[in-house]
Amino acid sequence: MKIFATILLIIFNSGIIHSSNEFDFTTESSQVKNITYSIIKDNEEKCYGYCFNIVQPVLEHTVHIQVKDKQIQEQAITLKEYEKQIADLKMKVAIFEEAIKNKDQQILLCDKSKNESLEKSTIIAAKDELLSNLNEKIMEYKIKLGNCLATSCINKLTDIYEIKVPGIDAFSVPCDSRLAGAGWTVIQRRMDGSVDFNRNWTDYREGFGDLRGEFFIGLDKLHLITKSQTHELYIYLKDFNDKERYARYDHFYIGNEDEFYKIKSIGSYSGDAGDDLKNHKDSKFSTSDRDNDDDLDIVDKASNPVGGFTIVIGVI
Ligand SMILES: *[C@@H]1O[C@H](CO)[C@@H](O)[C@H](O)[C@H]1NC(C)=O
Ligand SMILES: *[C@@H]1O[C@H](CO)[C@@H](O)[C@H](O)[C@H]1NC(C)=O
Ligand SMILES: *[C@@H]1O[C@H](CO)[C@@H](O)[C@H](O)[C@H]1NC(C)=O
Repeated sequence: MKIFATILLIIFNSGIIHSSNEFDFTTESSQVKNITYSIIKDNEEKCYGYCFNIVQPVLEHTVHIQVKDKQIQEQAITLKEYEKQIADLKMKVAIFEEAIKNKDQQILLCDKSKNESLEKSTIIAAKDELLSNLNEKIMEYKIKLGNCLATSCINKLTDIYEIKVPGIDAFSVPCDSRLAGAGWTVIQRRMDGSVDFNRNWTDYREGFGDLRGEFFIGLDKLHLITKSQTHELYIYLKDFNDKERYARYDHFYIGNEDEFYKIKSIGSYSGDAGDDLKNHKDSKFSTSDRDNDDDLDIVDKASNPVGGFTIVIGVI
């Protein structure tokens, strides 16, 4: 009974196996023989040697199949392992893909924020430009307003008046409407030697003397006045014989203290006193305590050889 059951099983199994696999029996033949032999040995008693010849090939075949089954099972296990590994790898791939997607998204976000910051800096630059334009406009208006509020000797008689120019508090100046027409501002007057003109840098910067007599207006004020509006310069000379001469320059402007109050512009000369000042264009101002290069003759600091002179400036 046991044998027949086995045979049925064999037929059933072999049908499947032969349809799906090619077997190489030679490699396992010794193993198979060995197993077959032990099975036969086990069943020898039951067979009484009688069934041996019939059963032996079948048994051998059975054992073959059992070995194959085992191999298939092993292969199935291996396959399962492979499948598991594949599944693992697939999962890893999925994780990588997800990571790549995240990176892509990050790159996109980065691009976007770059764009945004680019846009922002563009906007900021535009605003900066606008602001600087506005500032320029404000400065322009301030200057215009300052000039508007600025006063001069125009429309004034020959007397002392307070005038206002941008950059400094109102101050007093002598106005002159007799020497060269109306509305001139006197910046220096020498007539009797009552005031010492050999002064230091500070005195020349601030101005000194008596506005009704001999005086110098001061280089800071002269700079600011000539900066605020276009001025012409008129030098009036009167020698000991009361002979009068003049020199006139149509655009007079001096720099600030950082520029050593140098004559930055004189314009064109006219007159009969000689065009001495042209040699002093771009000259820096010097005093006994501050020698910057050559002296500015417009202010004759020591002697007063010609007798007397008045220097006036007027708004053009
Ligand atoms: C066959 O079986 C014997 C013991 O039963 C063992 O010593 C021998 O190594 C086996 N040979 C093979 C090829 O399995
Ligand atoms: C960034 O700007 C460029 C052009 O200015 C555009 O082509 C790109 O699509 C923008 N990127 C994002 C993320 O908005
Ligand atoms: C400049 O001279 C005045 C007097 O005229 C004097 O009071 C002042 O201290 C002097 N300043 C310098 C820096 O020498």
